Order: sequence, then C-alpha cells, then structure tokens
Amino acid sequence: MSPDPAKALVIVANRLPIEIGNDGTATPSPGGLASALSAVAAEHCTWVGWSGATSNRRVPATLGGTQLYPVALTKAEADRYYLGFSNSVLWPLFHGRLRREEMNRSWWRAYRAINERFAVAVSLTAPTDATVWVHDYHLLLVPRLLRARRPDLRIGLFMHIPFPNAQLFSMLPWRQEVMSGMLGADLIGFQVADDVSNFLTTADRVLQVSIDGNRIKHWTRSVEVATFPISVDFAHWDALGTASVDEASAHRAEVATPYILLGIDRLDYTKGITQRLGAFEELLLDGQFDPNECTFVQFAVPSRSDLPAYQDERDDVETIVDRINARHRRADGSGPVHLVLTTLDDVGLAAWYRATDVMVVTSLADGMNLVAKEFVAARGDNGGVVVLSEFAGAAQHLGGALIVNPYDIEAIKRSLVMAKKMPLAERTARMMNMRDSVRDHDVHQWAQSFLDRLNASPRVGARASIRSVVTRVRRRVAARLGA
Ligand code: F6P
Repeated sequence: MSPDPAKALVIVANRLPIEIGNDGTATPSPGGLASALSAVAAEHCTWVGWSGATSNRRVPATLGGTQLYPVALTKAEADRYYLGFSNSVLWPLFHGRLRREEMNRSWWRAYRAINERFAVAVSLTAPTDATVWVHDYHLLLVPRLLRARRPDLRIGLFMHIPFPNAQLFSMLPWRQEVMSGMLGADLIGFQVADDVSNFLTTADRVLQVSIDGNRIKHWTRSVEVATFPISVDFAHWDALGTASVDEASAHRAEVATPYILLGIDRLDYTKGITQRLGAFEELLLDGQFDPNECTFVQFAVPSRSDLPAYQDERDDVETIVDRINARHRRADGSGPVHLVLTTLDDVGLAAWYRATDVMVVTSLADGMNLVAKEFVAARGDNGGVVVLSEFAGAAQHLGGALIVNPYDIEAIKRSLVMAKKMPLAERTARMMNMRDSVRDHDVHQWAQSFLDRLNASPRVGARASIRSVVTRVRRRVAARLGA
C-alpha cells in the first residue's frame, strides 16, 4: 500500500505487531491478523495495541517506521478481557461452537473497560481528521466509544473472523451494546458475503435499524457494510518460496518419504486438526496410504493455552498422533506424523510450503485462512495441491483447491486420495489458477480498497449529529408522553 502522507492512519488491534514476553523479549505477534497488517502498516501510521505482556515491559517506540502505542493490561485484566470475554465467549460464539457458554459478567465488565481504554488511547493519539481502522472481535465497542470522544475521525472496523447468525448473536446478554458499539463505525468490513448478510439481519433484529441495500441507518448515521476478503503479500511469499528451494530439498531429505502432507495452524479447536489426522489415520489403516511412503507434517502453534478448551484440543491432537505413530511405526523408529509444537518465521514456513505435496486446511469455521493463500503464493513452481475446507473464507477465492466438508471424514479421505493421484497437468493448471487469484487480490489491494472506501464515506459534522440526536430523543419522549 502506498501511504498518503497527507492522511494519518491509526491501526487499532488487540495485539501490537510484536509481542513482548514477560522476560522482555520481542517476537512477531501470532496469527494472520498481525502478519497481514504488518505487511500494510507503513510510515505515517500509528498502531495502538497490547504488547501481550502483563508486567511492565518496555515497548519500542517504532517498528519499521510505524509508531507503536501500547495499551497496558494487568494479568487480571488480560484474564477477563482477552482469555475470558474475547476468547471464551465471542470466539466460540462467532465460530458457531456451542460450548457451555459462560456469560460471565465480570468478563463483560472487563471487556467494556478495556475497550474504553483503547478508545481513550486512540483519542489521545489520532491527529485531527485521521482515519482509524479498528480490527477484530476484541474491540467491538471501540468504534462507538471513540466516536463519542472524537467525532472528527473516520472510523472503520474489520472483522477477521466469521459473524454469526442472529440467533447465535442474540444469546449475548449484552447484544445491544455490542451491536451499537460496532455501529459507531462508518464502514464495517467482513471476509465473506454470508458474514455481511448475518450482520444485516442481526442488526435489524437486535436494534431495529433501517436497512437500505448494504447501508444501515442508525440514529443520524449511515453505516456501510461490505466484504473485503483479506489476503497475503503475494510478492513477499513468492520471493521467499523461490529463495527456499535448497531448504525445501533439505526438508524432503530429512522427512525421507516421497510424499509430504502439511498442516500449519494455531493449536485451536476451530482448525479441524483432529479431523484431518483422523482421515489420514483411516487411509493408513485401509492401506490407501503407505506409512513408508507418506509423512504428515503438522505444525500446531500453542495458543491461548491457559484456557481448558485449548488444553483439551492439544490433548486430543497428541493422542491421535501418538496412536497413529504407534500403530504405523517404521523400521527406523519414526512414525508417519511429525507433530511440531513451535512457531516458524516466514522463511521457515516458505521452505515447508515449497517442500510439500499437499497442503491440508480443514478448518471447521475460519474467517479466511491465510495459510492456504501463503502456500499458493510460495509455489512459483506451480507444484502442490490444496485440500481446503468449504468453511474457510479462502474457499471462495481458491477455485483450484479440492474443497471439502471437514465434518465429512469420507470427503477428506477422497480429497487426499485425489490429490495424491492428480496428474501433473491438472495440478499445474489448478495451482496457476489459484496463484492468479492471490496475485490479483493481495493484502495491499485489500487494505487499499478498505481505506479508499472508508475515506470516501460521507462525513457528518459533530454539531449536526448531536442536534439531530437531541431532536430524535425529544420526539421519542414526546411520543411516549402522548404529546
Ligand atoms: O483473527 C483471529 C485472531 O484472533 C487474531 O485477532 C489474532 O491476531 C490471532 O487470531 C491470534 O490469536 P491470539 O492473539 O489470541 O494469539
């Protein structure tokens, strides 16, 4: 994205682009959001977010020209706002997972207080008339809280994860506050059309707004809602893929089987890791895959590991891996699944992408899934096949992938067999098709199109907006009193 020095941009996300450990070390923040935004953050940009530390740690003032503005959280606040309301209520609910939802009121109070803290931080740092871009489910109250303080700002909100249907969203005891919080934005972006239609229906049900096409009229304001499918930095991954040929060959030599399947995920119950390993296990058992010929390399980066749901997921993944490796142990003592519980940098990822025969993405629900797009961008050799869940937003952009229902183990098995048998000409044609799609819609195009649309949104003067709210409240009171 080419930054316009005349327009200040403030990015607001739960995490800063770097995470500061409680021992003071800095590493890139986990997840697709941080890597996508890091690719588009530029000079003249300020990034407001949490460093991930819960003790007082120094955060560098800038990173590659981007100004960093940390929002501090204590351990108790992080437990309630981040692990609690964000990741034990909103995350499962928005991914359609009906666990035993605990609508814990102290988590909600912390969420509201921390959203307020973010809004104050942005209001102190944003230049007059700046553009503010708020990200994801941790900060849904920020647009409204910020607008109340700084009506001069243009405020955009982008949701990286799915938006649930009206029935699920309505389970939230605080549904009106959350919806009003989001509607403080001028523009709300989602990954796919289903999210937009869920949001419009939900806004109507929860707040009885009026809807005109993709615009919501809320009080005096008009909020635009649209899809902006996120993507990756194609040129970056393409170059890394090309540069990693030797490291990729080294991986193939160390794995020592002619066929490699690859999974790369945060260790999260939404990713469908046990489903794909279950399919692989059955293919080994029924003899369609030979343990001496195939290796499944699964990177699973521990995430939110203080939460029981994530500990359970890790147990489930380790159990299935141990079972497969015990049943199909090879002569050299190795098993056909290599589970690696560490994170890789982009250079390391590109080498694995390049070494792989089939990339397996079986998310049960996923806003986009950038791993699938990174894999495609790194395959300048037009090699490799993608097996991709129909419930990942990426399925709508990667027409050359083998699309599966991750809940249907037979469908995953069929796709894995089809991928293995796919003739070279078909593999190449599918990969070229997917590469064209990611090249044409990369992360720069995503950011530019969101910001262009946001900057084109109509401005409503603060005074005019206060006047018309007062008028409307007067009318409502008068109507109630029967005047
Ligand atoms: O988009 C999903 C998301 O929650 C991002 O907001 C986040 O950057 C990423 O996953 C990683 O999760 P966490 O910040 O909880 O480690």
